[in-house]
Amino acid sequence: MQIRTALTTVLATTGLVGTGLLVGNRVNMLPLDASSNAATYDSLFKVLFSIGTMLFLGITIVLVYSLLRFRRTAGDTSDGVAIEGNLPLEIVWTAIPAVVILFVGIYSYDIYERMGGMAPLMDHAAMDHSAMDHSTIDRAAIVSDSPGPDPERIWGGIGAAATPDQTGEVPPTLPVEVTAMQFAFIFHYPQGDITSGELHVPLGQPVELRMEARDVIHAFWVPQFRLKQDVIPGQTTQLSFTPTRAGTYPIVCAELCGAYHGGMRSNVVVHERESFDAWLAQNTPTTST
Ligand code: CUA
Repeated sequence: MQIRTALTTVLATTGLVGTGLLVGNRVNMLPLDASSNAATYDSLFKVLFSIGTMLFLGITIVLVYSLLRFRRTAGDTSDGVAIEGNLPLEIVWTAIPAVVILFVGIYSYDIYERMGGMAPLMDHAAMDHSAMDHSTIDRAAIVSDSPGPDPERIWGGIGAAATPDQTGEVPPTLPVEVTAMQFAFIFHYPQGDITSGELHVPLGQPVELRMEARDVIHAFWVPQFRLKQDVIPGQTTQLSFTPTRAGTYPIVCAELCGAYHGGMRSNVVVHERESFDAWLAQNTPTTST
């Protein structure tokens, strides 16, 4: 009987873990991946989805089994058996969730750091140097080591923008200034002085958004890029990414910002190089003489 119980436990656990891993890796619930951050993010999602599947199946199966197996038999009006305490069981059901939660916490932290999320919390000046080195935005005030008050201080910086392309070179970063207001995003390209209601970016080139809100807190979110960043009045936040798939993707405001928050949407168009150059040429304002 002991051996049978042990065998059943081992088999059930193996089946549960196997099914969880299979579902987590095979079932894709995420939208298209269109930025260099997507793979990093998706690896975390797969792990969380696997763990979630194991817990869901494990709990549901045991629950349904217990409901059927231990249900009251007809005519039985006696009390249930008084069971009190089971130390080994309690240790097990405390230890397993503790290990799982600790693992998920450490792994999430690692992913967030790999996406560049921790740098600005540790040191505002150390944020995303790789992107800054290639940026044409004047960042002297940010990069300097002066401890004095920094009017240009950028608070949030997430996303790994600068990744080498096939030739091993990092293309220059495209800076774009984003203004969020009730209820629209406005994009300004300092190079070329273009203003647009949609974000247009070239495939494979790192993009660095510097964002600020006019009125209340908004959030810039592109699900296909797996990136989201708050846009705050009076504080510039930053978001960096490299688009890896041409197409048009939604930009969604992800912070309740007023009555028409739900309608605060735009698009990001990821162009092939030539088509981006054509868009630039088309939208560059002609200088009046
Ligand atoms: Cu802007 Cu919600």
